[in-house]
Amino acid sequence: MEKIVKNLKSYVVVMTGAGISAESGIKTFRDADGLWKNYRIEEVASPIAFARDPELVWEFYLMRRKQALECKPNNGHIALTNLEKAVKQNGGKFLLITQNVDGLHKRAGSENVIEIHGNLIYSRCAKCGEIFEDRNIYQEIPPYHNCKEKGMLRPHIVWFGESLNPEHLEITTNALSECDIFIVIGTSGVVYPAAGFVSIAKKFGKKTVCVNKEEPDNIGYFDEFYKGKAGELLPEILF
Ligand code: OAD
Repeated sequence: MEKIVKNLKSYVVVMTGAGISAESGIKTFRDADGLWKNYRIEEVASPIAFARDPELVWEFYLMRRKQALECKPNNGHIALTNLEKAVKQNGGKFLLITQNVDGLHKRAGSENVIEIHGNLIYSRCAKCGEIFEDRNIYQEIPPYHNCKEKGMLRPHIVWFGESLNPEHLEITTNALSECDIFIVIGTSGVVYPAAGFVSIAKKFGKKTVCVNKEEPDNIGYFDEFYKGKAGELLPEILF
């Protein structure tokens, strides 16, 4: 079968979504019907929800933190780590943009990664703003920071209604304008701004490729579509 990345001297930009972690045992939002305990994800993943009921929001994120720590990277994550190594060894460039908050790409050994929606094993103080790695599965929630102001901690996640880190947006836009190929894996293409990155790449005249179990909503922007499971397809077709 023809490989997606034919020239390892290229600048390759990849974006992943929940689908790449499905084979590690983490349910995608679509598979979970966008629900947790009968709450819509948007109802527990927003600053309004956190202000109203921080215990509920922490309960949701501690469940996900625990799950992420128990799961392992799969062959899809590993194929991307191998692609990064191969591209760098051949003098190319590589950037991985992930919407996932499970940290599995970094655990698989990917180096040039930006986690645009945050990371489950980090917390942030609502008062002093400190961001730190936090593997605690707190029994008493909500947890508080040991800073002067004793601020309430929150998961270091970009919630609905919040903006992406402007630095991440700048890195992404530059990468999309400079790359040779943009590969999007395991995302339904419904949550913006990430769902719009492929249209930006297209506007810059870049080659766009999608690998997904089903057609994403923004399928019209892709030059090539490979239908299937990331953990099975990527080791075969990536490079
Ligand atoms: P979704 O759950 O919306 O979409 C997952 C996509 O992966 C679907 O199109 C599935 O068909 C596909 N899929 C499932 N299993 C797969 C597999 N083994 N291999 C390849 N594809 C597979 O998840 P996202 O698009 O990532 O935001 O969701 C985007 C954002 O919405 C998330 O980052 C999250 C959520 O609300 C925040 O938390 C801010």
